[in-house]
Amino acid sequence: MMKMTNTDTTPYKYGPFLDLGLAATTPYPLNIKINSAEGVWLNCENRGRLFDAISGIGVSNFGHGHPYIKAALHEQIEKNLHTMVYGEFHHESTIEAASLLSSFLPDNLDTVYFVNSGTEAIEGALKLSKRITGRHRMIACIGGYHGNTAGSLSVSSNSERKAPFLPLLPEVSFITFNDIQSLSEIDDSISCVIIETIQGDAGVIVPSEAWMIKLREVCSKNGVTLIFDEIQCGMGRSGRPFAFTEYKVTPDILCVGKALGGGMPIGAFVSSRANMKLLSNNPVLGHITTFGGHPVTCAGAVAALKLLKDIDFVALERRCDMWEQKLSSHSSVKCVRRNGAFFAIELKDAETTSRVILKGLEIGVLMFWFLSVPSAFRLSPPLSMSDEEAEIGIAMILEALNVA
Ligand SMILES: Cc1ncc(COP(=O)(O)O)c(C=O)c1O
Repeated sequence: MMKMTNTDTTPYKYGPFLDLGLAATTPYPLNIKINSAEGVWLNCENRGRLFDAISGIGVSNFGHGHPYIKAALHEQIEKNLHTMVYGEFHHESTIEAASLLSSFLPDNLDTVYFVNSGTEAIEGALKLSKRITGRHRMIACIGGYHGNTAGSLSVSSNSERKAPFLPLLPEVSFITFNDIQSLSEIDDSISCVIIETIQGDAGVIVPSEAWMIKLREVCSKNGVTLIFDEIQCGMGRSGRPFAFTEYKVTPDILCVGKALGGGMPIGAFVSSRANMKLLSNNPVLGHITTFGGHPVTCAGAVAALKLLKDIDFVALERRCDMWEQKLSSHSSVKCVRRNGAFFAIELKDAETTSRVILKGLEIGVLMFWFLSVPSAFRLSPPLSMSDEEAEIGIAMILEALNVA
């Protein structure tokens, strides 16, 4: 415990995270100390109250510490925690979470494999596509982000972030998102095409319906598995439960994560029963996880999925439209891209973006950077914010923008 008692007067030798015995992910972490969190608010020891305008990067969609989610977790904790690795025992919460998740999805997405994170859902989906097709070549999109393990990094597009870790998966090629001509690269040698339905890290890029329909058509014609990553844009973020339903196309595999657990760590890949059966033979245990489908995590997912059914998407759209109008009218904003409650705000340059985000922290609102678009900042507020909270949040964001 001694290691944890750094005082404010002790100069950091290596940076605060390293001095506390934690691995730092950047040399300049925000170092916000959280005491508690409730609804849209983070209560911080060293920053006071912060309006969370990013929901922990698309996780706390139903607000922090939702009483319904907390009660579901407590109830499951009283029953049992981990008992056995995924797939051997039945837990009521795991089965209910799978059935609730598939109740939002078309008939061919009726079988769920729960894992521990978004990136693992992608790994599972890529492996499954190899079993479905017997092929290994993959196509992903420029601007796409799918995670940070070896497979998911291979299909992510930011080459600077991949360079030190090469070689990754072989024979992955990248096409232009939302470009009809690029689809000619998909042929019957390809195992899968993976896309984010709405590109998040690229700065909230929304594809056209024509492209989505053609993409589905070309994949079906060539026997290529189509994978939609809704890890960030799913679970209500797009202003509907799952973003792809807008396009009248269905993927062969859907990946979900982030908000699915109601704040607990989870991921899932979902496909048809016939496809998923392929992971049970040749070899048996085609994907293995110790903690996937954890009963407590899945109790969080059951509660989150029930809350998703109750989201008032009309009211959410009204609040987010109001944010968009006000943001677009600010003289420093070059453009706003939005889908539902998922925003990218483009400013002059990277330096201005950082200035605005840091000013926000001073004023009391948490906004954040994109990994791959330095001239923009992200907003993804809790879907549960009220009219009054939406007004408080946008007032602080506009005030922060005045330093741009
Ligand atoms: C679209 C998308 N896919 C995959 C991931 C990876 O999820 P995780 O960080 O839970 O591994 C993320 C995370 O930000 C994401 O936004």
